[in-house]
Amino acid sequence: MSTALIILAAGQGTRMKSEKPKVLHEVAGAALLEHAMRSGAVLSPARTVVVAGHGVDEVRGAVLDIDPDVDVVLQEEQLGTAHAVAQAKPPLDGFEGDVIVLYGDTPFIRPETIAAMAEARKSHAVVVLGFEPADPGRYGRLVMNGDELDRIVEYKDAGEAERAIGLCNSGVIAAEATLLFDLISEIDNENASGEYYLTDVVGLARARGLSAGVVICDEDETLGVNSRADLACAEAAFQARARADALDNGVTLTAPETVFFAFDTVIGRDSVVEPNVIFGPGVTVESGAHIRAFSHLEGCHVSRGAVVGPFARLRPGAELSENVRVGNFVEVKNAQVAEGAKINHLTYIGDATIGAAANIGAGTVTCNYDGVFKHRTEIGARAFIGSDTMLVAPVRVGEDAMTASGSVITGNVPDGALALGRARQENKAGLARKLMDRLRAEKAKRKGI
Ligand code: UD1
Ligand code: CA
Repeated sequence: MSTALIILAAGQGTRMKSEKPKVLHEVAGAALLEHAMRSGAVLSPARTVVVAGHGVDEVRGAVLDIDPDVDVVLQEEQLGTAHAVAQAKPPLDGFEGDVIVLYGDTPFIRPETIAAMAEARKSHAVVVLGFEPADPGRYGRLVMNGDELDRIVEYKDAGEAERAIGLCNSGVIAAEATLLFDLISEIDNENASGEYYLTDVVGLARARGLSAGVVICDEDETLGVNSRADLACAEAAFQARARADALDNGVTLTAPETVFFAFDTVIGRDSVVEPNVIFGPGVTVESGAHIRAFSHLEGCHVSRGAVVGPFARLRPGAELSENVRVGNFVEVKNAQVAEGAKINHLTYIGDATIGAAANIGAGTVTCNYDGVFKHRTEIGARAFIGSDTMLVAPVRVGEDAMTASGSVITGNVPDGALALGRARQENKAGLARKLMDRLRAEKAKRKGI
């Protein structure tokens, strides 16, 4: 059975107090909308349609960056959730299969939960995701009749008895596409809000003698973001879950509450992550690596046995092979560092290839940028780069070659050669003492005035 995802994302998000559309605000390095798309990905959707309103162009741009096959449709006026879903009908013309509706501002629905809904669709024409919140507040209420869901009543329209129901609507709903759009065409807006309620599809399906069922999830999956405070709560919830998962998977976190993961961080077992480490998107750390305190990693790969930090920065394209050492105040960007190489102190390595077992001295800089273009630096296996070497790219230092400390290397260094690129030292006998005597005398003279 093929599935289409419809993600509702037209709401303004006034309470975010932001120029940016609400669904593009990020949790763990990914837009809220991307989290929803990733939850839905468990069903390998054949089609995805995002319904946008406020900031539609920005939303479209961001969505197409994530997945160019997604359709983004405009809901000009926000007339209700049923009206929003109806906007997805044209791009799904001719689509045969199930539709599942998600909210773009609700990032934590578990893939397992969505899979359970697809399973429940085998026995019900319409499946709604319910939850039992500690405080049911103003959520829509699920009116059950035994195992059957009879209808959903919005809080504003509910009587006292209905408001007393603890089972609430998360907003996620699944049904066969043709049926869903057909039911939606019957929905009116004669209710307390004057909106077209998607929730009305349940009562309409039941009136046709069709079955409706409920899948129940944890309340924390349904956490929606409406304000910056909600966004902070969502981040905290994500991190709590990611830390627990890492510990569970055999990763040592010495101070879990200080480590921040991205939505896609992968860390192998028996790795150690010290306090205050931050993972941006796109990081893979293999088993048995050691990430020391206060390091910042994004878009990089760290192999087995590598030690990173403390205070290291790995930027996109940093590839560390096995047993590499990257020490304090070292930044690595778009560079492949081969097995056993050491870059231990105060160094910038960008747009470079570092050979196996090379040693990069303190204060080395690959001068990769000429103000317009980026250039590459190649360092051969077992090369020894002296402290404070400036490598003016494009440049190549051969295998087993050396550069003298303080050198500015502007030309290639052949294999096995020693390159000296600095002024020769000259010693002037007695001149230091003479100079100091003169300066001190000058100071005494000024005080005397
Ligand atoms: C909705 C449900 C309610 C449920 C609650 C869960 C309806 C009628 N009510 O209520 O039963 O308990 O969610 O949070 O469905 N949106 C659009 N276009 C619109 C209206 C909404 O894209 O015209 C989007 C919003 O951006 C949001 C989502 O749909 O992501 C839900 O809209 P919201 O206004 O928050 O619905 P509620 O009234 O809270
Ligand atoms: Ca809401």
